[in-house]
Order: sequence, then C-alpha cells, then structure tokens
Amino acid sequence: MGSSPTTPTLKPKPFVKWAGGKTQILGRLLELIPQDFKTYYEPFLGGGALFFSLLPERAVLADRNEELINAYIVVRDRPRELIESLKKHRNEREYYYQIRSLDPSKLGPVERASRFIYLNKTCYNGLWRVNSKGEFNVPFGRYRRPNICNEENLLAVSQALKGKEILCEDFERAVASAGREDLVYFDPPYHSSSKTASFTKYVREDFPPSEQERLARIFRNLDRRGCYLILSNSDTPFIRDLYKGFRIIEVRTNRFINSKACSRKDSARELIITNF
Ligand SMILES: C[S@@+](CC[C@H](N)C(=O)[O-])C[C@H]1O[C@@H](n2cnc3c(N)ncnc32)[C@H](O)[C@@H]1O
Repeated sequence: MGSSPTTPTLKPKPFVKWAGGKTQILGRLLELIPQDFKTYYEPFLGGGALFFSLLPERAVLADRNEELINAYIVVRDRPRELIESLKKHRNEREYYYQIRSLDPSKLGPVERASRFIYLNKTCYNGLWRVNSKGEFNVPFGRYRRPNICNEENLLAVSQALKGKEILCEDFERAVASAGREDLVYFDPPYHSSSKTASFTKYVREDFPPSEQERLARIFRNLDRRGCYLILSNSDTPFIRDLYKGFRIIEVRTNRFINSKACSRKDSARELIITNF
C-alpha cells in the first residue's frame, strides 16, 4: 500500500506522560505477547505504552479517567482541530493557572482535550492529580521548552487509533466482551504495602485492596473464558497470594514517578502475571 504525502510515517508513541508508564518493563512484556490473538484489550490505558508498542489491528482501550479518554477520542477523530488549539497555548505561569482553573465539563471536546494535553506537558512532573472535588491541582512545572504540540506524533497516534474502540469505563465493564483468544493487558494502580497507603482512601483515583481483589476475580473469570491474560503489579505478598496458581515473573525496576493513583514508592520489584 502506498502512502500519500500527508500520511505520517512516524511510529506513534504515547502522547501523554502518565504515572506508571511502562517503559522500563516494556521489553519483558513484549517477549510475552502471544503470536496470534484476536482483539487486544487495555482497560487501564493511561499513556498506553504497550498499545503503542504493539499497534494491534483490533483493540478496546479504556480508562476511568474522563479527561484522558476524551483526549484519546479527540486525537483519533479530530486531530487537526486539536493541533490548531494546542498551538495557541503558552508556557507561562499565569496563563497556566488560568487554563487550570477552567471547568473541563464546560468546554467542548476539542478544547477540553487541548487543556488536558497542555496541562500534562507543562505541569510539575507530568502528574495528573485531582483534589476531592475532582479538580486538577498540580502546580506549574517551569519546563524550559515543553513540547506542547507534537504535531507529527499526534497525527501518527490519530492514525493508530482509527477503528479502535475507546471507552471511559470501569475495568470490569471494559473487558465484559473479551473472549477466547483475545489478549487482555491489565496495568492497574499498583498495590502499596506501606502504611501511608491507607490514608489515600479519599483520593478520587484510589484503588484499595478490595479493588485489587475484584480485579483478581475478573482475571480468574477471563481465564476460564479462554483469554490470554497479562497483568503487572508491585511485588507484595498480597498480590502474590491473589494470583496464586498463575505464572508469576519477577522484574526489577527503578521508579521515578510516585503518585497516589499509581503508587510505586515501595516497589523496586514488580510482578508480571500471566495465565499462559
Ligand atoms: C498504572 S496506570 C496505567 C499506566 C499505563 N499502562 C501506561 O503505560 O501509562 C493505571 C490507570 O488506571 C486507571 N484506573 C484506576 N482505577 C480504574 C478503574 N476502576 N477502572 C478503569 N481504570 C482505572 C487510572 O486512571 C490510570 O490511568
């Protein structure tokens, strides 16, 4: 197939920085991918590092974060308008706080995605953190030259997302249609065994042990349905116990980002769990 001069040839890469990005264990994950599978499911999408490495033909991509999912849908469907909007942003402190103070639910989809990507590129550490009212509250990052509008990559990502199902759903609903020979990759907020973890309960993005248990039940259901399953998490006795009987692979990593949504501070060792 020939490509027209306007078709981007660049390999797409994640267009947002996301806590828990998988760059460090990506190599290990890729080694495990089965040769043949039907639909690829990624229900804790975040930056989508594994999706962008695999670029599967059929995919269901989901996350519970509304801002994130709106951005994926706009990148897929309206990349040119988004690029025009992103070009107007400025990396200036006052301007940043002005954009941050906008209520995203009152913006149209393109402006909302543009605000989200702008804040992600210019905020401190590229973290997405919200207060108890769900308002984004990360301070200005003071980067010298953040790449707010990476036009070439956004166009490549848009192509890669064409025809993919993108859902703002809880993980359980996102995988409800997965069946025999589909591949599901779960990258949930990691379990943290530290005492302070229990205080993060009131944060919107929290993922308490009861959620890890619900996830492990879904994992077992999907195993019975004949899916290929891969899951990453921190190496704690609790997680090892939840996935007893499955293949458990230990991986060593260095963690840089630690947020309440994806707490990694006590997890120099991670686990990759599969059912094949
Ligand atoms: C560890 S991050 C995923 C990182 C991603 N693999 C990457 O490469 O950037 C976990 C994601 O799970 C999402 N999440 C948390 N609870 C969820 C739930 N109940 N259902 C679906 N997504 C959820 C968060 O919004 C966050 O984006």
